[in-house]
Amino acid sequence: MKLLITRKIPLAGIEILQQFPQIEIDYRQGAPLSAEELKKAIKDVEAIIPVIPDQITEQIIKAAPNLKLIATYSVGYDHIDLKTATAHKVFVANTPGDLTESVAEHAFALMLALGRKIVEADKYCREGDYKYWDPMLFLGPQFSNKTLGIVGFGRIGQHLAKIAHGGLNMKILYYDMKRCVTEVEEAYNAHCVSVEELLQNSDVVSLNCVLSPETHHLINDKRLRLMKPNAYLINTARGPVIDEEALVTALKENIIEGAALDVFENEPKIHPDLIKMRNVILTPHIASATREARIQMARMAAENVVDVLIKNQPPKNLVNTELSKQTISSLI
Ligand code: DGY
Repeated sequence: MKLLITRKIPLAGIEILQQFPQIEIDYRQGAPLSAEELKKAIKDVEAIIPVIPDQITEQIIKAAPNLKLIATYSVGYDHIDLKTATAHKVFVANTPGDLTESVAEHAFALMLALGRKIVEADKYCREGDYKYWDPMLFLGPQFSNKTLGIVGFGRIGQHLAKIAHGGLNMKILYYDMKRCVTEVEEAYNAHCVSVEELLQNSDVVSLNCVLSPETHHLINDKRLRLMKPNAYLINTARGPVIDEEALVTALKENIIEGAALDVFENEPKIHPDLIKMRNVILTPHIASATREARIQMARMAAENVVDVLIKNQPPKNLVNTELSKQTISSLI
């Protein structure tokens, strides 16, 4: 049975797979595959471990008649055509929970770096501009006791609330597309509010939601104008949650003070105006890039493959749960 792995991943995952010599691995480790290359490479395989930039479209799924499993090396699965996968009885599995701390830590780091102008100040030192101490140089806010608005209060959002409230006594406002998570509100001094209320009252807004039709361009021109003029916007979720053009306008017109972005609307392309702005910090989708998270992601993706190809059972981290019973008998 054949498995395609589209990019280099930590050895921990490969070692799990190597315990099963019946799994023949086509392990691509170079540059990302183009859509055409992917279509060719997936042709005979029973399982694939893709990464976020691999667009697993209807065309790709249809090009793989033997495909049983898409075990994405990610928590997010917005790069996979779930409907087509389900229609073709292909399991889709992800790696939930493995990067919660890492992404929340990155969002927190971006907040501090943006407010305290760490990137700009570093540049200032390196470029020889530090000639004398100046009391008015690089002034930013103190975040302690301020209000953090979290959009998407799942595992990552809640962990960020824990860090911000526990560490800086920040007040937490949150908006979640599904429900108010009342059971943790007391622990984090968190209040469930509408997205409008959150934007109006937060000093920092962090996006930690999934990308879905409901969250696409959730942060648009109208909503950006609700934010405080000295507020910061942090995005470690998915680029299209923000209307990037509207954000550029908001930053140019000083509607908000700054933004820190780990994800972009047309990744890996970055809006050219964002690159020029000093009140913007950009990172290349690395919020989950800790050794711990990457190793755990590799293990979970490999275990999802073993579940299906070796144990003939649905993967532990099944996304299209409607397939959990339906296809198991056909696999055995
Ligand atoms: C994910 O897993 O969804 C991250 O965005 C990439 O690690």
